[in-house]
Amino acid sequence: MRIHVVVRSLIAVLVLLAAGVAAAAPAGRLIELTGNDQMKYNLATITAKPGETLHVQIKSVGTIPKAAMGHNFVLLAKGTDPKAFTTAAANAYATGYIPPEFKAKVLASTTLVGPGETADVTFKAPTAPGTYTFLCSFPGHFLAGMKGTLVVK
Ligand code: CU
Repeated sequence: MRIHVVVRSLIAVLVLLAAGVAAAAPAGRLIELTGNDQMKYNLATITAKPGETLHVQIKSVGTIPKAAMGHNFVLLAKGTDPKAFTTAAANAYATGYIPPEFKAKVLASTTLVGPGETADVTFKAPTAPGTYTFLCSFPGHFLAGMKGTLVVK
């Protein structure tokens, strides 16, 4: 009986340690992106090498609640019309403002964040050099200027 309890405790400790190691060492170069109550990112440009692994972490540094001022990071495939995308996104509340019909055009995306929250996505930059649009798909934010460019070179 007693040995079982000890073994179970040891397993629990090992699981916690493994989780800690996984959380402490995310793959990819960390890009710290913030969104604020003025509907702006802190970064207008992210530069990457072709195929480089990036770890984008978005944090909301505002105070307005998520329901009114949510932010995310959405990287669009080359040639995707960001206006058409965000127009469709406005009707995609159920899927975190990622419109299902554009799923194939989304290279990477995070969930929405509210004040003090962070969300992460790790992905490989496109292998084709060029510029790619990233934006916040919360209704109205792209038109307010919440967008940027991933430059692959
Ligand atoms: Cu936003």
